[in-house]
Amino acid sequence: MCGIFGYIGSKKALPRLMEGLHRLEYRGYDSAGVALLHDGRIWTHRRVGRVIQLERTLNEPPDSRTGIAHTRWATHGGITEDNAHPHLDTEGRIAVVHNGIIENMTTLRAQLEKEGVVFRSETDSEVLPHLIRHFYRGNPLEAVNSALQEVRGSYGIAVLFADHPDCIVAARNGSPLVVGLGDGETVIASDPQPVVAHTRRVVYLEDREIALVTADDIELQRLDGTAVNTEVEVISGDYDVADQRGYPHFMLKEIHEQPEAIERCLRGRIQEEEGNARLGGLNMTPRDLLQVNSVTNVACGTAYHAGLVGAMAIEALARIPARAEIASEYRHRRPIVSPDTLFFAISQSGETADTLGAVQEIRLKGGHCMGVVNVVGSTIARECGAGTYVYAGPEVAVASTKAFTSQVTALLLFTLMLARTRNLSLGEGRRVARVLKEMPSKVAEYLQRPGPIDEATAVVRDAPYVLFLGRGFSYAAALEGALKLKEIAYVACEAYPAGEMKHGPIAMLEEGTPVLVVAPRDDQRDKAISNMKEVQARGARLIVVHTAGDDEVAALADVAIPVPPVPYWASPLVTVLPLQLLAYQTGLALGRDIDRPRNLAKSVTVE
Ligand code: G6P
Repeated sequence: MCGIFGYIGSKKALPRLMEGLHRLEYRGYDSAGVALLHDGRIWTHRRVGRVIQLERTLNEPPDSRTGIAHTRWATHGGITEDNAHPHLDTEGRIAVVHNGIIENMTTLRAQLEKEGVVFRSETDSEVLPHLIRHFYRGNPLEAVNSALQEVRGSYGIAVLFADHPDCIVAARNGSPLVVGLGDGETVIASDPQPVVAHTRRVVYLEDREIALVTADDIELQRLDGTAVNTEVEVISGDYDVADQRGYPHFMLKEIHEQPEAIERCLRGRIQEEEGNARLGGLNMTPRDLLQVNSVTNVACGTAYHAGLVGAMAIEALARIPARAEIASEYRHRRPIVSPDTLFFAISQSGETADTLGAVQEIRLKGGHCMGVVNVVGSTIARECGAGTYVYAGPEVAVASTKAFTSQVTALLLFTLMLARTRNLSLGEGRRVARVLKEMPSKVAEYLQRPGPIDEATAVVRDAPYVLFLGRGFSYAAALEGALKLKEIAYVACEAYPAGEMKHGPIAMLEEGTPVLVVAPRDDQRDKAISNMKEVQARGARLIVVHTAGDDEVAALADVAIPVPPVPYWASPLVTVLPLQLLAYQTGLALGRDIDRPRNLAKSVTVE
């Protein structure tokens, strides 16, 4: 995890490093640090807390043109100033920022300690400057290369040498790094977002590549010494700094951006006349689609919930087996990959380590994996080579909202394409296309009249436990709602398939326990009503998300939240909205840090 930014050029490094860190803060924000080269020495400053804390405490920094910086998400070692990056060698002549995990750190640390090195942190990362120092004979590239030969694990690193103010060494294995080639300045970053402020000409480092970066050049090679053809790409994605547009939090802004995000995801992709859709990035003909015999979605967190919805839609409309898999489980359990299965790796950031690992495992086993990704040019998008961007726009709040509805939308577009090569008629295809086209206005309609979210907030805010229930598509929505409430409000809760509730969670219910049931008008509604009665009989307080006009369901609830009517396969696009708002309002009521909740990070680039 963590964000890395490096600058070398003709301008002042520090403000550029700080700006870079701000844009990378979503990757981790428990501590931050910077190292600057000046007068043949390395100056460092580190602080626990956000980048802003680091910035505010900068005391007489030197006027440097070369530096590296880091924002951390702790893995090895607690959240302390000593554990914050950059880490230095004993003499303070080599500084390293690191993203990833050094797996053989115990062995390396013991070896270095035998040589007399005294470690100043508990991190795995600190072995790097000492190891580089061990191999350093005056050539920075050679020293880093030799050190990395000893290292097992994942890394994206940037290294400063006090003796070499004219260069930064960068290397990557498993943790992304991109080098931006500007006009008389070069930057290094964990992802393209902070690079575009300087240049759109970039070089993506591949695994086991090492680069010697100067103000106007990059020299790239593999760790085994073989030469690499440096490919400069011009990136065109939308990386604008998102602003809050008057909303008190990014999360609320992004919730309200969902109509336009879905609209962007649909734009140019619906073929209303043909009752079909077109996702050009998949590069699949109808014949290719016909050869797909099953679909597996791999993802983590919110993206996994979108994958569940997508899988259910594919089974329901295209009538082929489909499932969603949690990427961290899938990749490590010797998965069975068959050639006629189409895999989708779903990821907002396109950087999630477990999802990326699953992609690599699938590809290694000969599987066909495509990306459903938001961030253009991200590692998963590039690793897959083909797929579809969801075009939700920059998502800043750690809790994912508009990415979820956009991912679901993209997967529904794919479902339509797949279903049209199978059992969906022209007329049915047209109806599906029309529903999709109307989704932005349905979502906007709900957001204009969100219903009694305040009442629901009052029910859950002080509850020791909240149970979310749903069936089928609504189970996926319930899972997403419970995840949001945990992430943002830290309220203990879980989501269960409503039918499974009687096999365990029912024991948790006592007088006043809040139970939130997602029960739109679909063919599971009557069964959901029975579940509502079951929990009510045990004293639960019922919050129900129901289809507007369904008075029977509304009458059962203590708090009834209506959503616009949509077909069952699109229902999570509307039923998730009140759940997002509920998490937001509850977090607010409890004084939580809405956009940067504790312990989490937007992009989890470690296993
Ligand atoms: C982290 C975030 C979640 C996100 C998940 C997957 O856990 O906190 O909000 O859903 O990663 O991220 P991705 O970028 O792959 O969608």
